Amino acid sequence: MKTIFITGASSGLGKETAKLFQRKGWRVIATMRNPEKEQELNLLNNVHLLAMDITDSVQVKQAFKEAVSIATIDVVFNNAGYGLVGPFETYTEQQIARQIDTNLNGVLRVAHPFVSYFREKGIKGIFITTTSIYGIVANPLSSIYCATKFALEGWSESMGYDMAAFGIKFKTIAPGGIKTSFAGAAMDLTYHEAYNPILERMTKGFESGELIHFTEPEEIAQRVYEAATDGTDTIRYVAGIDAVEISRLRDDLGIEANSRRINEIYKVKNFLNF
Ligand SMILES: NC(=O)c1ccc[n+]([C@@H]2O[C@H](COP(=O)([O-])OP(=O)(O)OC[C@H]3O[C@@H](n4cnc5c(N)ncnc54)[C@H](OP(=O)(O)O)[C@@H]3O)[C@@H](O)[C@H]2O)c1
Repeated sequence: MKTIFITGASSGLGKETAKLFQRKGWRVIATMRNPEKEQELNLLNNVHLLAMDITDSVQVKQAFKEAVSIATIDVVFNNAGYGLVGPFETYTEQQIARQIDTNLNGVLRVAHPFVSYFREKGIKGIFITTTSIYGIVANPLSSIYCATKFALEGWSESMGYDMAAFGIKFKTIAPGGIKTSFAGAAMDLTYHEAYNPILERMTKGFESGELIHFTEPEEIAQRVYEAATDGTDTIRYVAGIDAVEISRLRDDLGIEANSRRINEIYKVKNFLNF
């Protein structure tokens, strides 16, 4: 039986991925900050819940030790994260540090012990990291979020080169919008009235579906399954029709696609030239 280790399995994409892999006959190590609150995954066969806040080094090390004592791990799905949204100048130092410590450092913290584990044990493991289409093409009012997701794309790609000789793969899932609490309760939002025009445009674009399409998390989880099982060396799985379209524009037009798309959608000011 193959085993997947998942972060952020309490909700959204992480939870749907846990359920999908369990249905497919995998053992699932579902990590989350508050496993005592979980009411669904705890009822499933071959699903093990472990407590882990990815910003807590002690808990990360402990969860790693427990996980490898339960089973040989085949796939590490580094998925936990949240969105800090608003104008850069309104973020506090703590908000910036927390966003980076979760979305970027949290992923590195979790991956770190598994890299040596896979290499030393000769396991041809796969790391799958949830980034975002905003880790490939930036969006306004998401500067630090984009910084973390761009960083993860670079980290994963570079790691892929380092680890290829050992048969260890690094892949990313870059979704567009997903119907989860991410765009609601989980988001850390800041405001400044000077940025209202762009914020209003963005809100309208989100609501109308012009800027983003929210895909069901089950559909994105299918791409995670594909990444874990397709046997290819594909390094990035762009997931969701919005992400595929944005990515296609980017491939066709190069980096200029970013400014064209943003200028067309936002019509606030022709503010970017590449
Ligand atoms: N939804 C979207 O539109 C969208 C689009 C592109 C990419 N993504 C990415 O998809 C991933 C999953 O998000 P989602 O959409 O499934 O949203 P979600 O339902 O809010 O899930 C986020 C998960 O991350 C966990 N988490 C947050 N901080 C954590 C920490 N310090 N330690 C451990 N777990 C932590 C949350 O746990 P708690 O329940 O304890 O808070 C939750 O399980 C994120 O990396 C996000 O950036 C989402």
